Amino acid sequence: SNPSLLILAGDGIGPEVMNEVKKIIGWYGDKRDLAFDVEDDLVGGAAFDAHGTPLTDATMEKAQNADAVLLGAVGGPKYDTLDFSQKPERGLLRLRKEMDLFSNLRPAQCFDALADFSSLKRDVVAGLDIMIVRELTSGVYFGEPRGIHKEGNERVGVNTQRYTESEIARVARSAFELARRRNNKVCSMEKANVMESGVLWRQVVTEIHEAEYADVELSHMYADAGAMQLCRWPKQFDVIVTDNLFGDLLSDAAAMLTGSLGMLPSASLGAPMANGRPKALYEPVHGSAPDIAGQGKANPIACILSFAMALRYSFDQAAEAERLEKAVEKVLADGKRTADLLGPEGGTPISTAEMGDAIVEALDAS
Ligand code: NAI
Ligand code: MG
Repeated sequence: SNPSLLILAGDGIGPEVMNEVKKIIGWYGDKRDLAFDVEDDLVGGAAFDAHGTPLTDATMEKAQNADAVLLGAVGGPKYDTLDFSQKPERGLLRLRKEMDLFSNLRPAQCFDALADFSSLKRDVVAGLDIMIVRELTSGVYFGEPRGIHKEGNERVGVNTQRYTESEIARVARSAFELARRRNNKVCSMEKANVMESGVLWRQVVTEIHEAEYADVELSHMYADAGAMQLCRWPKQFDVIVTDNLFGDLLSDAAAMLTGSLGMLPSASLGAPMANGRPKALYEPVHGSAPDIAGQGKANPIACILSFAMALRYSFDQAAEAERLEKAVEKVLADGKRTADLLGPEGGTPISTAEMGDAIVEALDAS
C-alpha cells in the first residue's frame, strides 16, 4: 500500500500554502508513480472551532500512525484571548511532545537567485547549504526546578538546564546519520567552558562519535563563537548539532542568512517506528501570517520544501527531493517571485497559486 501522509493545514495561510503542496503531491502520484494516501484533518484554531480543542485525541492518534505528518501553521488574532490550554499553539506542542520529536532539522539554504536578498555579502551566502540539528524536547525550556519565587524581598526567576546522557546520545546519532547522507561533517556546539550540561554534551557526543561514527568528521565549538562564525563564514559548516536553547537562537540566525521566512522548511524527527521510518512532522518555519491570510499572497515555498524534506527523510526519495528543490530553484532563477521575495526595487509579484503552478511546470520539465 502507499505510504500515508496526514495533512494538518491549520490556520491563516496554512491551508493556502498546503493547497500548493497538494498539487506537488498529486504530481508525484501522476508522473512519478509515487502515490501517497493523504488524509486531511484539523489542528489549531480550526480544530478549536470545530471541536473546542486545538487537537483532538482522534487526530493525535492519526498522527502517531501516519508515515509522516505535514503541518501548515496555527494561530491567529481570533484565538489570542483563549485560555492557555486551548490556544492553537497547544495543538502543535502536543504533537511534538506525544510523538517525542527530539530532533529538529532546520536547513539554512541559499538559492543563488535570492543571494542578494541576504543582509550578508553574496559570496558569503550564495550556494549556502547547512543544517542545524536542534534538540527539541529537553534542556532549559523543560528542566526542573523552574518558576518564580521569593527570596527575602526579591523575586527570583529559575530555569534549569538539564540533559541526560541518553537525550544527548539520541540527538547526536541523528546528526551523525544526517551527516553521512550529506558531507560527513558535524560541528557540535555547547558552552562546556561554563556549563556542566555542556561538559557532558561534549563528552557524550565524543563517545558516540568514537564508538559508532568515526568515519564522520567531528569538531566542537563554543556556541557563542559558533554564532560569530555562522555570520562570518557560514559555508565552513555542514551539520551543526546543538541543544534546545542554543539551537533556537542559532537556527533563527542561520535561517535569516538566507532571506525570507517564506522560504524556510523544517523537520522534527523522533524514534524509528515499526516500519523503520522515524516519527516525523514537517512544517514551514513561518506562522499563520494573519496580515496576508486570504489574499493569495503567501509564499508556498517553505511548505513545499518541507514536503521535499519528507521525501528525503521519511520516504528515502533523495533524488525526488532534489528534483523538487531544483524545480524551486529554476522558478526563482526565472525571476518568479511572490510578494515577500521582492526587494526594495519592487517588481510584479505572482500569487500563491501561480507559484505552486510554476513549480509543477518546472517539475514537468525536469
Ligand atoms: P508569521 O510567521 O506568521 O509572520 C511574520 C511575517 O512574515 C508576517 O508579516 C507575514 O506576513 C510574513 N510571512 C510569514 N510567512 C509567510 C509566507 N509564507 N509568505 C509570505 N509572507 C510570510 O509570524 P507572526 O506574525 O509572529 O505570527 C502570526 C501567528 O502565527 C501567531 O498566531 C503566531 O502564534 C503563529 N505562529 C505559528 C507558528 C507555527 O504554526 N509553527 C510559528 C510562528 C507563529
Ligand atoms: Mg525561535
